[in-house]
Amino acid sequence: MSINTVMVIGAGQMGAGIAQVFAQSGIQVKLNDLQQDALDKGLSGIEKRLARAAEKGKMSAEDQTAAFNRLSGTTNLEDASDCDLVIEAVVENMDVKTKVFQQLDKITPKHAILASNTSSLPITEIAAATNRPSQVIGMHFMNPVPVMKLVEIIRAIQTSDETYQAIEDMTKQLNKSPVEVEDFPGFVSNRILMPMINEAIYTVYEGVASPEDVDTVMKLGMNHPMGPLTLADFIGLDTCLYIMEVLHEGFGDSKYRPCPLLRKYVKAGWLGKKSGRGFYSYE
Ligand code: NAI
Repeated sequence: MSINTVMVIGAGQMGAGIAQVFAQSGIQVKLNDLQQDALDKGLSGIEKRLARAAEKGKMSAEDQTAAFNRLSGTTNLEDASDCDLVIEAVVENMDVKTKVFQQLDKITPKHAILASNTSSLPITEIAAATNRPSQVIGMHFMNPVPVMKLVEIIRAIQTSDETYQAIEDMTKQLNKSPVEVEDFPGFVSNRILMPMINEAIYTVYEGVASPEDVDTVMKLGMNHPMGPLTLADFIGLDTCLYIMEVLHEGFGDSKYRPCPLLRKYVKAGWLGKKSGRGFYSYE
């Protein structure tokens, strides 16, 4: 199938980045948010990033203008009525996501594919909430979207081969690298990343080493670009705890139990960079 018009729902950190890469790849994109101010912020962020890329000589001024002109903003979900693909990037909450998918199921054309950028919720359950489960799929972009090459494509148990193939082709057209993943907790990315972060927190909790030293070991010893505790502060400790709980509940295996120190930090409101304090101070 050909995908010519796309809507991205949620103009936050991820949604704005996703809309930008589609626009840069020559596709008409509508960016949607409930809030007009969130939408304005998302669109102006894209405009600034495109201008910076042009300034640095990464794209021509014509391409910059053309990419921005492929974008439009809307707070009306009904504008998805002519879209071939919709990518949902709203808050990480199952009730909110299923409601959005049920609305989209009514609004979009019959052939449209509905994708979610969720980082932890089951695509199979989102698909089951619609009347077109074979056309529902996970398209998990990484943050920051314009920079990161990977897209995890998550197949719900109901996803058809045709839907999978269309999304794999689309991902390549975005100049990203697709990886096919079955729908199990944490997919591949967070199933491996989050237990590593959790173990780094246990290492601090048990007094084995300081956060700085844990990060130094992983940077200089394992060639990681960023230590796990710096990365945890960047992701948000509340998000890390939430994903560990999804893994723990989903697999029922004690190896995924969240570290008590992680829980304590979240209870204190020490959520990492966004709150000014996590394993490091950002004040
Ligand atoms: P965010 O909080 O920056 O943005 C969410 C946006 O969705 C907000 O602007 C909000 O107004 C809007 N929104 C909420 N309900 C809506 C609705 N019913 N209709 C339209 N807009 C609505 O969140 P962020 O970080 O962009 O995350 C979005 C999704 O992407 C989540 O599912 C998250 O798990 C996933 N994700 C996040 C990553 C990250 O590093 N932040 C990485 C990969 C996936």
